[in-house]
Amino acid sequence: MNKEDKIIIRKATFKDLRACAEIFRIESAKSPYNKKKTPKKALEGIREDFKGNDIYVAIIDNKIVGFIMVRVDSGIKNQLWINELWISKDYQGKGIGKSLSLEIENIYKKKGIKVFKLVAHTRKGGAQGFYRKLDYNLDKSMVFMEKTIV
Ligand SMILES: CC(C)(COP(=O)(O)OP(=O)(O)OC[C@H]1O[C@@H](n2cnc3c(N)ncnc32)[C@H](O)[C@@H]1OP(=O)(O)O)[C@@H](O)C(=O)NCCC(=O)NCCS
Repeated sequence: MNKEDKIIIRKATFKDLRACAEIFRIESAKSPYNKKKTPKKALEGIREDFKGNDIYVAIIDNKIVGFIMVRVDSGIKNQLWINELWISKDYQGKGIGKSLSLEIENIYKKKGIKVFKLVAHTRKGGAQGFYRKLDYNLDKSMVFMEKTIV
C-alpha cells in the first residue's frame, strides 16, 4: 500500500462476504485467537452474522483488505456493539482499522448512537492497545467470568 492508495469504505454486500470470511479465517487462526475454521465454516458463519449485523468493508485498489461488523444493542437504544474488526496482515498498521472505526463512529453518531462497546483481547496480538489509542476505556462494570468442569 502506497501513500497515494485510496481507502474506500462502504457497506458490504452479500458478494463481499467470501473475502471477509477469508480475512477472518486467516487472521483469527493466529494467537491469541487460535480459531480453527475451514473456508466453508468461516463463510457460513459470516453469512449467518450478516443477517443481524452491519458490515463495512475497506477496499484498496479494488481489493477488500479489512472489515468491521457492528450491531445496535437490542436492549439499549443508544448503544452499538463492534463485534468484529479484522484487517488483512499485509495491510495492518497502515491506518485502515482506525479509518473503519472512525467511519463507524461517524455513521452511527448520526443515527443517535452514543456508546460504542466491544470486547478486546488483552493478550499479545490482541486489539486492546489499538482501541485504547482510539480513546476506548475499560468498562469497569463488567467482567468476564468462567468455570471449567472436568
Ligand atoms: C487490531 C487491528 C484491527 C488494528 O487495525 P490496523 O489497521 O492494523 O491499525 P491502525 O494502523 O489503524 O492503527 C491505529 C493505531 O493503533 C496502533 N495499533 C494498531 N494495532 C495495535 C495493537 N494490536 N496494539 C496496540 N496498538 C495498535 C497503531 O500503532 C496506530 O497507532 P498510531 O495512531 O499512534 O500510529 C488489526 O491489526 C487486526 O486486524 N489485527 C488482527 C485481528 C484483531 O486483533 N482484530 C480485532 C479483534 S475483533
